[in-house]
Amino acid sequence: MRAVTIASQAGAGKLALIVTDPPEPDDGEVLVRVAASGVNRADLLQRAGNYPPPAGAPPWPGMEVSGTVIAAGHGVSSPRVGDEVVALLEGGGYAELAVVRAAQTLPVPDGVGLVDAAALPEAVCTAWTNLVDTARLRPRERVLVQGGSGGVGSVAVQLAKALGAFVVATAGGPERVARVRALGADVVVDHRADDVVAAVRDATGGRGADVVLDVLGGGGLADNVRALAPGGRLVVIGLQRGRRGELDLSALMAKRAVVTGSLLRSRTAQEKAAIVAAVREHVWPMVADGRVRPVVHARLPLADADDALGLLERGEAFGKVLLVP
Ligand SMILES: NC(=O)c1ccc[n+]([C@@H]2O[C@H](COP(=O)([O-])OP(=O)(O)OC[C@H]3O[C@@H](n4cnc5c(N)ncnc54)[C@H](OP(=O)(O)O)[C@@H]3O)[C@@H](O)[C@H]2O)c1
Repeated sequence: MRAVTIASQAGAGKLALIVTDPPEPDDGEVLVRVAASGVNRADLLQRAGNYPPPAGAPPWPGMEVSGTVIAAGHGVSSPRVGDEVVALLEGGGYAELAVVRAAQTLPVPDGVGLVDAAALPEAVCTAWTNLVDTARLRPRERVLVQGGSGGVGSVAVQLAKALGAFVVATAGGPERVARVRALGADVVVDHRADDVVAAVRDATGGRGADVVLDVLGGGGLADNVRALAPGGRLVVIGLQRGRRGELDLSALMAKRAVVTGSLLRSRTAQEKAAIVAAVREHVWPMVADGRVRPVVHARLPLADADDALGLLERGEAFGKVLLVP
């Protein structure tokens, strides 16, 4: 099969198309003929040699795919050969074939094409587990989605709305602001032009956000804490503005706030299976009835994987970029 692998692990690695042996499904796994693979920021780190895949995963990037099951290992009753699925992988999605634990697959939701469905697993599972499992978002609470224009953020905005929250989101520039508003956000703040904390306070009657879903990390920490309401929960899922920041503990104490974070990729198989099962039960109906839609910026051939990563690197993508073998 063809796969995209990292030609150089040192410095600015480049991706190269290779021909390699197809993987075989082990017990509890299925083999998927990939229709599309979602591109993630973690793939940029992996290409640069800074984010090795977990033990046992193929060396090539790709943490999510859509496709058709063409073989199943021992002990798999579902999905079946011939089923169209999306899947959350440990790695190895940038290929024509990929193996995945059966418990990390979901059926392609009604109303979504097989290729575009690859935009869903990583973004939906990340948004769900952080907004619901970690932040305990409740209906009518106010949520700030930092990066509502991104692959994760574009889904998080729709999911938070579908869960009954009041959604404030950020995006860079008027055009992206308008597009995030069209996804259903109640208020969208242009983080390049406006004071995000002041805008959150205005939008929430001075109270602040009960939940902040953050992709900025260290450089955004101070503002995110300032944006929190009493009892607020800040969940950091990205470090686009650095891994270190200064935390004003007195503000945390005064607000009885919580700062936490999580990584999906390094969760255990059991944890991922539980997240996938919850997504199937709670989010898939929202996808089927159109409340949560995949947002696809571009579909590129597998051979253009470097160009696909470039769209993320330069901040040009709105929503997800997909690679199609
Ligand atoms: N923890 C996890 O399990 C997990 C899972 C998936 C992804 N992630 C991480 O989550 C982050 C987002 O992923 P993604 O796939 O959504 O990436 P993406 O599609 O590249 O989106 C990046 C987002 O960050 C926003 N952004 C950049 N600088 C900003 C700033 N100064 N202020 C406000 N927003 C800013 C961008 O907004 P504009 O372009 O509109 O300015 C865009 O919405 C990445 O760091 C990724 O590694 C974490």
